Amino acid sequence: MNRYFPVGGPVSEDDLIDRELFLEGLTRRLSDGQNILLAGPRRIGKTSLALEVLRRLHREGYDVALVDMFGITSVRELTEHLANALLENRTGVQRTVEKLRDMVRAAHTEVRVSVQGIELGLSFARRQGSEMDLLEEALAITDKLIRASNTRVILVFDEFQELSRVDVNLPKILRSHLQQKPHISCLFLGSKPTLLAQLFSQGNEAFFRYAVSLPVPEIPPDAWSDYLVRKFSERGISITPAEVGVLLKLTGGHPQDTMLVASEIYYALIEMESQVVSLTVLEIAYQRALESLMRAFEELWGSLSEHQGAQQLIKKVAHGERPYGQNASPARVGRILTYAMNRGILIKVGRGQYEFFEPMFRDYVMRL
Ligand SMILES: Nc1ncnc2c1ncn2[C@@H]1O[C@H](COP(=O)(O)OP(=O)(O)OP(=O)(O)O)[C@@H](O)[C@H]1O
Ligand SMILES: [Mg+2]
Repeated sequence: MNRYFPVGGPVSEDDLIDRELFLEGLTRRLSDGQNILLAGPRRIGKTSLALEVLRRLHREGYDVALVDMFGITSVRELTEHLANALLENRTGVQRTVEKLRDMVRAAHTEVRVSVQGIELGLSFARRQGSEMDLLEEALAITDKLIRASNTRVILVFDEFQELSRVDVNLPKILRSHLQQKPHISCLFLGSKPTLLAQLFSQGNEAFFRYAVSLPVPEIPPDAWSDYLVRKFSERGISITPAEVGVLLKLTGGHPQDTMLVASEIYYALIEMESQVVSLTVLEIAYQRALESLMRAFEELWGSLSEHQGAQQLIKKVAHGERPYGQNASPARVGRILTYAMNRGILIKVGRGQYEFFEPMFRDYVMRL
């Protein structure tokens, strides 16, 4: 993420705009022992929020760990990630290493403990028993280790909806483990609302009512304005509130898209050897940002063909038409709209009224 305005991954503490109250609430809830679900469309800052929460709680003395389910392909990988992420809290403590060795020996698991410098590492050898047994044993081992120090543990599962893709039995096993561990609080993140809703709100699913679901708040325009004016002025660039207003109107304040346009403004000004943001610069930057989003938009648009009639209806909404027309079956339109909302593309703004969640995607669709 080599940009003055960070784009393309979680942002650092310094670039995390606003959300102070939300962050305070989130850390309080987790430290009180609540489990939280943050489900929301892509690129709105879920992981950034979670990492900041973990930084804060770690500073307060909690043990913290984040596992990104996207990169995980097997139960064994999950086991190693989780155990290692938890052990990182103890890195550098020799006593811990010894304790760990004892526990591993006691558990009769083929777990190799490696110590390189001050880094602790666990790797799990394949053995006869199932990978699920391994996960349960590893969880028990790390749990003992953490218990010994009497701290509360905060676990973040990013892209949690991928859990059942790794193994269909995983949700049940994980839930039963977590349920017996009142000192562990979980923050579940995910970008596929439908799958998450299934896991957390259907009576027969493993995580039914296990977490409190919170909406990810928008970044308020004032917070954007303060941040943009400050960041630009740090490099001697001036931008007026009016221009910030235009920028936010173009991007709808969408976190990633707004950052991206700001970044393009910054580099366009360097090329133009200018330090003043004008409407012309804004227009150039916007076009460049749109171009760099093109690949992602094409992919997203292509994937919408999986639902019959979705592209057509979404195009209609992009052009400002009402989705429920004279000839369309309301039930069918309703199904497509639900699908588009679940995909994080449309939001409902009133009775029969829908808007794009990401105005730059709307712009892309209008140009098709
Ligand atoms: N609070 C914020 N302040 C500033 N920029 C933000 C903020 N939240 C998100 N962004 C912008 O959005 C981008 C994506 O952030 P992040 O990776 O945290 O989102 P995400 O919702 O986890 O995305 P993904 O769906 O890809 O997992 C960042 O690189 C940054 O440009
Ligand atoms: Mg993320």
